[in-house]
Amino acid sequence: MSEISLGRSILAPMAGITGYPFRKICLKYGAEFCFTEMISAEGFLRNDKKTLELLETGSGISKTGIQLFGNSAAVLSEAAKKSFDRGFKVIDINAGCPVKKVVKTGAGSALLKDPALFADIAASVRKSVKDAFFTVKFRSGFDFNSVNFVEIGKIAEDSGINALFFHPRTRSQMFGGTADHSQTKKLKESLKIPVYASGDLFTADDALNVMNYTGADGIMFARGAVGKPWIFNDYMHISDTGGRAEEKEPYMTDKIDIMLELNEEISSYYGETRGFNIIKPHLYNFLKGFKGSKELRAAVNNAKSGKETAGILQILKTKIATNEYSEPAG
Ligand SMILES: Cc1cc2nc3c(=O)[nH]c(=O)nc-3n(C[C@H](O)[C@H](O)[C@H](O)COP(=O)(O)O)c2cc1C
Repeated sequence: MSEISLGRSILAPMAGITGYPFRKICLKYGAEFCFTEMISAEGFLRNDKKTLELLETGSGISKTGIQLFGNSAAVLSEAAKKSFDRGFKVIDINAGCPVKKVVKTGAGSALLKDPALFADIAASVRKSVKDAFFTVKFRSGFDFNSVNFVEIGKIAEDSGINALFFHPRTRSQMFGGTADHSQTKKLKESLKIPVYASGDLFTADDALNVMNYTGADGIMFARGAVGKPWIFNDYMHISDTGGRAEEKEPYMTDKIDIMLELNEEISSYYGETRGFNIIKPHLYNFLKGFKGSKELRAAVNNAKSGKETAGILQILKTKIATNEYSEPAG
């Protein structure tokens, strides 16, 4: 376990987004580690076909952690053991998901409401995977009246958890308001184990600012990486040099090539038709801010296959090369 290093910049788990193709591209363009989206511990134990598809890692299993969600210490421990036996050396438990469907089963951020259950899960999972690098990703509390991230962090540390990923919003905030990184700083100062910051990191500069302010051990990009997988390289560059992101950012046509590569990976993994829905959020984010972006996004909306999406990106590339479209301002 001691040989495991997560590095400084990690792709956060995102349901519906961080499937194998996107993880592969993020690792290629600078992410030092990545996570599967949250995996139902029960579904995994049942060998549910859809769940197993989420676990593909190609040759990247040493750089991929599995994130499990559930509400039972016994089920999570068994799923953790099965994950470890499958080759995942980094195992994360989700204690942050705010979605109703998950919370009403007592999983995700509902675990924050029950520190005793959280402690039980932490201790049981630790026991079942002694040699794994065991982490927890969590929010600051269930609601504003029950902010308990330091308590949860201390339970985690005392249970032998190796590192924490922290998104400083309560469950009741969902994605509203802003991430309060003064809480990240407080958590970091309260614990000895590594703390990674997550929340509102939309640019490499955002990430560097949060690192400097909180003293965190690393950062996780989530929404900031959607349609922008080069954000990891940008971040590594400014983190290494203290320079500005723009100095390293690839030219727009290079970015389009990376989007074409992602499109290709997604189409070949999920199939042309299914893949189209999966590339969509990436293309929407990518096209934001381009002159004529409304019309381009409408074209993406009307496309029915990966081939059509690739065609739109090719047209964009030609128009940029002939100066018909200017690059987005920021
Ligand atoms: C579409 C979407 C899906 C997400 N799925 C997960 C998930 O499966 N597990 C998890 O721990 N967090 C999940 N998150 C939360 C992110 O990992 C991250 O903590 C959060 O988005 C805050 O970071 P950001 O503001 O930089 O996006 C998800 C977020 C989004 C936007």
